Amino acid sequence: MPFYLNPNTKEPYLRLGAPHTNIIITPHRLDRLDEDIPPRVEMFNDPKIYMVLDGPPVPYLYENGVSWVKSIGEQLLPVVEAIQANPADPGVFGESPFSCIRLVSREDKDGHPLEDCVIGDITITRYAFYEYPQDSEERTAAQNANKELPAGDESIAWGIGCFLSPRYHGQGIMTSALRTLIHDWAVPYMKARDIRASVNLGNNSSLRVFEKNDFEEVCTLKDWKKVSESRGGGVQSIVVRESPEPSIHSDDSSGVLDADDALAIRLIMRVVNRSLQLHGPGYQITVLSHPEPELFLLAHTGLDQDFSKGSGF
Ligand SMILES: CC(C)(COP(=O)(O)OP(=O)(O)OC[C@H]1O[C@@H](n2cnc3c(N)ncnc32)[C@H](O)[C@@H]1OP(=O)(O)O)[C@@H](O)C(=O)NCCC(=O)NCCS
Repeated sequence: MPFYLNPNTKEPYLRLGAPHTNIIITPHRLDRLDEDIPPRVEMFNDPKIYMVLDGPPVPYLYENGVSWVKSIGEQLLPVVEAIQANPADPGVFGESPFSCIRLVSREDKDGHPLEDCVIGDITITRYAFYEYPQDSEERTAAQNANKELPAGDESIAWGIGCFLSPRYHGQGIMTSALRTLIHDWAVPYMKARDIRASVNLGNNSSLRVFEKNDFEEVCTLKDWKKVSESRGGGVQSIVVRESPEPSIHSDDSSGVLDADDALAIRLIMRVVNRSLQLHGPGYQITVLSHPEPELFLLAHTGLDQDFSKGSGF
């Protein structure tokens, strides 16, 4: 099995590949909050981290860490227990319990961790559909529809979030952590096929992490999201990338997309309707007959096309 079970603690964990085998990804430890919260607080109060993340409060207090870790840890406890109960065949899950990136400082004779400390975090959760305008009904509808899909449904759209202590930046750790999370957990145990990331334009190290994991650029949305006053205010452009297996597939030899995937198509349509520039692999706009007359479908053709000037818009 691609994950490990620590015989000393019964904790399941993922281990990064060489040269980062001293780094593991574990669930939150509800019984070790006093060890795990301080590094989180330190990271979230570092401008290199909080300026590029939307969620965590600024400043980030110890209590913020406790309530977050407790709520997420308790929510994911059933997954951890299912893995512990049947590690050889734990089943299929709608969540990842593996999120705390830890540097191991001491191991037992078999290589299982005995001592470690939190140095970062990586999550794969139901995607937030940043491509739809902030606070729009479309975004809420897309999020709700995606949330309703049952565990194991290959059409679920997943989103990645991550951060690492600046002390460890630039060593390839997050690139390896993302690869490990996807290949050792999300693909085999969540059946994740459609994994996306939305990154602030200019956050080049994050963009590189996804690029090195072969995520392809879907679009760049200019001046797209409002930035909180505690992070300087204004608006920020974002770049959306997706994992190599595309979220929408051609269903015939002409390369025309499957009209059933209305959610994904609407998502792209919304972007197009906003006359925003789309980069990345080439697409061609094709109009198909469909009950909804405004529905345009996109097909991969290998052509480069600027959608803002595209036909039919
Ligand atoms: C993004 C982040 C997780 C990357 O972690 P990391 O372990 O340092 O990433 P890696 O070392 O695996 O890869 C970083 C890549 O970006 C490159 N990079 C780093 N800083 C860069 C910069 N300012 N400009 C361009 N590239 C940069 C590195 O050289 C490396 O690429 P390379 O292997 O081709 O040399 C980390 O920088 C971080 O925590 N940032 C703040 C939070 C954040 O941005 N989270 C992501 C939100 S979507």
